[in-house]
Amino acid sequence: MARPCDSGRPQVSHKMQDLQVQENFLPDSSTRSSKPCGKRTRPWVKVLAVLVMLVFLGAVAGVLCWYFTGDDRSTNELQEGKAVRVYSGHLSLGNVQYSRQFEDPRSKEFRSLAGKLEQMINSTCQTIPDLSPYFVNARIFDYSDGAQVLAYYFATFEVPPEDREVLTKFSEDALTRPLQEGILSMSRLSTRDVIVRSVTSSLANPDLVVAPEERDCYHALWAAGRLQEFTSPGYDGNGYPNNVHCQWVLRADQDHVIYLEFQDFNTDDDCGNDFVMVHDSLSPAEDDVITKKCGKRPSSHHLAVLSSGPVMLVTLLSDESARYRGFKATFHQLPRMTQCGGTLTAIAGNFSTPYYPAFYPPNINCVWTIKVPSDMKIRMKFEMFRMEEPGVQNRNCIKDYMEINEKRYCGDYPLLNLKFDVSEVQIRFHSDESHTDKGFVGKYAAFNPSNPCPGEFACRSGLCISQSLRCDGWNDCGDLSDELNCHCGPDQFTCANGICKPKLWTCDRVNDCGDFSDEKACECDKDQWKCADGNCIPKEQACDGKLNCADGSDEAVCEEATVCTQFNFRCADGTCVHRANAECDGQKDCDDGSDENNCFPGCGTQPFKQSRIVGGMSADVGEWPWQISLHFQTYGHVCGASVISEDWLVSAAHCFLDMYDDSSSWLAYGGLNFQGEPTVQLRKIKQIIKHPRYNEDTYDYDIAVLRLERPFDLRPKLQPICLPDVSHTFPAGKSCWVTGWGAMYEGGSSSISLQKAEVKIINDTVCSVVTEGQVTSRMLCCGYLTGAIDACQGDSGGPLSCQEKGKWFLAGIVSWGEGCARKNKPGVYSRVTKLREWIREQTSL
Ligand code: ARG
Repeated sequence: MARPCDSGRPQVSHKMQDLQVQENFLPDSSTRSSKPCGKRTRPWVKVLAVLVMLVFLGAVAGVLCWYFTGDDRSTNELQEGKAVRVYSGHLSLGNVQYSRQFEDPRSKEFRSLAGKLEQMINSTCQTIPDLSPYFVNARIFDYSDGAQVLAYYFATFEVPPEDREVLTKFSEDALTRPLQEGILSMSRLSTRDVIVRSVTSSLANPDLVVAPEERDCYHALWAAGRLQEFTSPGYDGNGYPNNVHCQWVLRADQDHVIYLEFQDFNTDDDCGNDFVMVHDSLSPAEDDVITKKCGKRPSSHHLAVLSSGPVMLVTLLSDESARYRGFKATFHQLPRMTQCGGTLTAIAGNFSTPYYPAFYPPNINCVWTIKVPSDMKIRMKFEMFRMEEPGVQNRNCIKDYMEINEKRYCGDYPLLNLKFDVSEVQIRFHSDESHTDKGFVGKYAAFNPSNPCPGEFACRSGLCISQSLRCDGWNDCGDLSDELNCHCGPDQFTCANGICKPKLWTCDRVNDCGDFSDEKACECDKDQWKCADGNCIPKEQACDGKLNCADGSDEAVCEEATVCTQFNFRCADGTCVHRANAECDGQKDCDDGSDENNCFPGCGTQPFKQSRIVGGMSADVGEWPWQISLHFQTYGHVCGASVISEDWLVSAAHCFLDMYDDSSSWLAYGGLNFQGEPTVQLRKIKQIIKHPRYNEDTYDYDIAVLRLERPFDLRPKLQPICLPDVSHTFPAGKSCWVTGWGAMYEGGSSSISLQKAEVKIINDTVCSVVTEGQVTSRMLCCGYLTGAIDACQGDSGGPLSCQEKGKWFLAGIVSWGEGCARKNKPGVYSRVTKLREWIREQTSL
């Protein structure tokens, strides 16, 4: 989905942080252990696995790896076993000298100190009201050096199903205070020889904690001045195995931080049980997550992250999917940045988040003061601004943020321009303890308020743009100031407000001028009637029983109609409905009910649509429940499709050419919002039927129907869209929506989160002109002649959804376009009404 003003930077990984799906965090471990392909060997895992195995033995045989299908069964089973809650954190120790022996759990030093500390935690956990009945045990699993020696622990609690309601008591900080109080008071007793100065605790994913004796893929590495390298298991061979849990513990010298960079990153796109996680601690606690990633990254965009202190934990978890190459990472230590920010007094300069282009580290604050001569003012431009964090609503900035003049910025801004009417500003940057991101690079310049843009055009907004962009019909300033007071050229139309627009843009039912003046002179005269194709006929010719408009629209909706046109729904008994778009609208028009019987029950509803503002163009969860992401082999998302029934999808024929023709290489992801999100339904494709008249050169008949191997479970998040009857009209100027994970700009890569864009149906004559006659009657144009909003590569096959009386209809299928979002080059879609009969023949729908 191409979007306006994308800065042209690659998008592959930008939204990756969104992949942290909170609701799936802390899964009940019984669910995990009951997988037929359980991976770790903790004792409770084994016990539960055996129990569950016994119960399900008969059923389980032959159903190996069912969870890979991604449906919701796992959530159901969650009800049956014990719920496991794990807290993890560290104790900082007052009177302990660090010893390298602490890095070996079999050493005397490790064991003796761990024994004492475990005892302290155990006895405290046994006395915490509400939680103590469920306490299992606590373990110390690592140490690190620093200003103080830190001992890392985890504490496990198990809640049987009958006590499920107490699970609400296991909050993020339920353990912190009692544990702190208990341990600190214990360590104050003179009989104790370890002094604990402070305790941290936070919930951790049970799958990420391992007792030292159960580790089977664990590497403790020290950073040094030179670059060190490590790779995931099988990196140079067949890729990392299924069901691994590998940890790399990275340590650095005191007062240093760790710079970790993934030189190659190739893992499963499905983040559910297959991901790489980096923590700013040796404990895998949620509070210390720096980032969680899965999928693939182009070599041009390495993931690089920093710790805030001398330790870092890298974890690789995998499930039973296909094998992936894994990663190669390098790391080294850097002196800890003691301060960041500063005072900038030059008349122009740059500033960026610490260590940019690597992710900024957790726990850091910077302040920049920009001071320019007092007769000048300041403007700023951010070509990169990304501070996104899971769970943080787009612009409420409660975690990491940049603050200028008491206004906070966070989230993702493709392009941010700011202008200040003062000669001094302060920029504050704050990063909290968890989840970091790319950060920002800002450029500032002082300007002279009386000549703000020497040699260039000064927008009202403060932006300077090239003079050649003035009066070109494009809003380059963002505030239209470059398009005001223009003298329009011969091929331009002068809007009533003085703006010039290309003549071609008039009468396309899009308000290009902003004051509707380009759409005003297009109506027919008072004594005329307007045909659906835009032509005018004498009023009395409408509904006179003769087809006067070339398209017959003058006879479609008449009170005492006699002729049946292409715009009328034809009932099964052959009678004609003289009402526009009569099918599937909840009103019975045919005596035999056939206008309502032929649509899939409940189709075209958006159960999850909420009327809230969505930042940018990302879709709401469940907003387009018929949208499917089609993945090909290991390539990840390739095309879109739409659900039209439990077991049929509609897509574009051009997605399935040559090697892409093999149905067994495709997977359909339903109910998906973010690529990689685990809560989806996954189905294999049994059959691909391309339209036999599909023409590779012209894209004519660009449609295919796909039969699923197993039907989808229709749920609120996965619903079919209604198919329009052949008689359905989608008039020019109507607003519809195109959705997909396609590129966000021409030449870009797919988006991680589902994008939506509002587009308008373009009149067929204009469509034919702008495509130089390349459209056939099986195609329609939709978008804006101004460009800027359009579908793009990777959106193909996906829906163009139009709403009619509260129901959504599939008006088009993303097919082709010249580039993406170019001026005068709207998107071209397969026209579903013209292909409706063929869909029926293939699917009986
Ligand atoms: N053919 C492209 C694809 O395979 C879709 C192109 C749509 N282009 C456009 N500008 N609307 O994904």
